[in-house]
Amino acid sequence: MDAISVIRAKRDRQELNGEQIDWIIDAYTRGAVAEEQMSALAMAVYLNGMTRAEISRWTAAMIASGERMDFGALDRPTADKHSTGGVGDKITLPLAPLVAACGAAVPQLSGRGLGHTGGTLDKLESIPGWRASLTNAEMMEVLRDAGSVICAAGDGLAPADKRLYALRDVTGTVESLPLIASSIMSKKIAEGTGALVLDVKAGSGAFMKNVDDARELAATMVELGHDHGVRTVALLTDMNTPLGLTAGNALEVRESVEVLAGGGPADVVELTVALAREMLDAAGLVDADPAKALADGSAMDVWRRMITAQGGDPDAELPTARERHVVTAPATGVLTRLDAYAVGLAAWRLGAGRARKEDPVQAGAGIELHARPGDHITAGTPLLTLHTDTPEAFPYAEAALEGAWQIDPAETYAPTPLILDRIG
Ligand code: URA
Repeated sequence: MDAISVIRAKRDRQELNGEQIDWIIDAYTRGAVAEEQMSALAMAVYLNGMTRAEISRWTAAMIASGERMDFGALDRPTADKHSTGGVGDKITLPLAPLVAACGAAVPQLSGRGLGHTGGTLDKLESIPGWRASLTNAEMMEVLRDAGSVICAAGDGLAPADKRLYALRDVTGTVESLPLIASSIMSKKIAEGTGALVLDVKAGSGAFMKNVDDARELAATMVELGHDHGVRTVALLTDMNTPLGLTAGNALEVRESVEVLAGGGPADVVELTVALAREMLDAAGLVDADPAKALADGSAMDVWRRMITAQGGDPDAELPTARERHVVTAPATGVLTRLDAYAVGLAAWRLGAGRARKEDPVQAGAGIELHARPGDHITAGTPLLTLHTDTPEAFPYAEAALEGAWQIDPAETYAPTPLILDRIG
C-alpha cells in the first residue's frame, strides 16, 4: 500500500476500502505518511466527501490509533456531552457538575478555543490554580471524588485525530462533514463514555452555518455512536445569537457560576437543563431532576469540589481586563438581531481567543452583552461592553461588530427557538 494510490483514489471520487483507510491512518500516526500527503488526502475528502461506510471505518481507525479509556470500575453510569462549538458556549461548566449532582459520572474531555469559538479549558484556566492536564489516574481520582472532571484529552487518546486536526486547521479542511464527525466521535468513543449527548450548533457562530448541514452532521455522529455501542443523542441548537450575556474566558466562568447559584441568563439555563435531561435519560437516570439540583445548591457543591480537586480556588477573585469600552445603542427600538459570529470575532480580537495554537489567551478579555434579541433598547444606552488588556484592539473589535445588530422601530421580532430539533 502507498499514500499516493490512496490520494489518487479519493481524488478520482472512488470509495476507499477498509484496508486503504486502516493503512493510511496507521501510517500517518507512525509518521510514515508525510504531512503534505495527508493534507492532499484531507482536501480530496473535503471536496469529494465520504460514504457512510468510509466514515465509519475512518472513525474506527482513528480510535485504534491510541488507547481506549475504561470507566467500568466506577459505581455510577457515565455520561458525556460534546458541543460542536459556538460563541458564549459555556454550557459544559454548569452542565458537568449538574449531571454529576444527579447521579452520573461525567468524564468531560474538552478542548481549547481556536478562531472565533471559545474553548472550555481556556475558560476554566482563568480560575487561579486550576489545572487542565491530568494523568489518567488523576482524572479517575477527581471523578471518584467530585463526580465530574473537565480536563484535556491525554496524548494517548486518538493521536491520529490530534495530528490530523492540527493539519486541517492550517489547510482549509476543517469544515468537512466526514472529517468533523470522525474527529469528534473518535475522541468520544475512545474516551469510553457509556452515554453521549451532542449539542450540534447551526448558525453564523457555528461551523455548520445552515440547519440542514448541521442535521446531517448530527445524524452521522449519532449513527457512529450507535455503531460503537455508545447511547448517543443529538440536540440541534441555534447559534445565530451568542449564548447568554458573555463571550470571553473569565466573563463566562462568572456567568456559569451564576447559573450554578440558581440564576443566570434564561437561554443558558434552558440549554443546560435540556442537555442534562438528555444525558441523565441516556445514562438510565430517568428519575433525576436537574432543575432541582440547580435550585438546591447540589450542583454548586459538585462544582466547588471539582474545581478544588483540580487545584483551583472556587472562591478566588476572577481576573478582569485592564480596559473597558462601552458600545451604545444607535437607535431606540427592539433588538431583532445580534450576530454570534461578529461577537465571537470581536471577542477573539480583544484577546479572548488565539490565532495560533501556541498563543496565550487573555483571561479577562471578551464581550458583555447588555441586551439580547427581543429586548427593548433606548438610543445612547449601553449595548455591549468590550473588555481587553490591549486597548489598541478596540478599533479592530468595533470593525468586527459593524453590521452585527439590527434595531427595528416596531415590534417585528419573531423569536427563534433555541433547541431546533432532537436526533437520536
Ligand atoms: N471539533 C473537533 O473535535 N473536531 C472537528 O473536526 C471539529 C470540531
